[in-house]
Amino acid sequence: MSDTPLRPIRSYVRREGRLTSGQQRALDELYPRYGVRWDGSPLDLPDLFSRPGPITLDIGFGSGEALAEIAAAHPDRLYLGVEVYRAGTGQLLRLIERHQLDNLRVLLGDASELLRWGIPTASLSGVQLFFPDPWPKKRHHKRRMVQSEWLARVADRLKPGGMLHMATDWAEYAEWMLALTDADPHFLNPHGGYAPSAGDRPQTRFERRGLRKGHGVFDLILERETPALRPVGYRTARVT
Ligand SMILES: C[S@@+](CC[C@H](N)C(=O)[O-])C[C@H]1O[C@@H](n2cnc3c(N)ncnc32)[C@H](O)[C@@H]1O
Repeated sequence: MSDTPLRPIRSYVRREGRLTSGQQRALDELYPRYGVRWDGSPLDLPDLFSRPGPITLDIGFGSGEALAEIAAAHPDRLYLGVEVYRAGTGQLLRLIERHQLDNLRVLLGDASELLRWGIPTASLSGVQLFFPDPWPKKRHHKRRMVQSEWLARVADRLKPGGMLHMATDWAEYAEWMLALTDADPHFLNPHGGYAPSAGDRPQTRFERRGLRKGHGVFDLILERETPALRPVGYRTARVT
């Protein structure tokens, strides 16, 4: 048997063209101020911000307009956005600077790795995943962000009562998300299915793209169950 390590399955393809000079400048000059340098060990999340508050992780913010809008609308909450796309990260850094969003930090990197190694147990009040890449071909389904193992890890990183908000314009991915969350004992679905509205999230860039193509939009808003409410004898596996 070969002892070459297996290549991790990635939920993204690198799509970097040249950065604009503004995006490059933002990465050079603003990342040291608003970006998170991560060495692969667990982060002290409260320490990333200049004040205390409930922390939400936004996975794959794209070019960041929606996340900047959310952070501006909720100055009482704190947000950490993670994205692999350098140009989008540069754009969000510029928005943070322009709107002086002191409750938003960004990390340029792989969200799956971050969630696995960098986010401590019960440290988040919310996780949001808006319009993840749908990977429509069956042979690519393993590249989808939402998998049962990923959900168990999200549940571990959320505080009891924390929220997981996911949205997609890909009907078959929405069904996949619904089936996996229904099967996961850590999450309660107060709506019993898709949420009747998008909650308080703004429309995102990829959502607009989907709507222009005539797609529907599906939101799932779930709550991390509270262990005290678990039936006696209930056990959860340790998630790493
Ligand atoms: C379809 S776009 C959606 C962007 C944005 N949330 C929106 O709704 O406009 C999905 C984004 O997820 C990012 N992404 C995919 N896998 C990722 C990963 N493992 N870590 C961080 N970002 C990821 C991609 O780079 C891309 O920008």
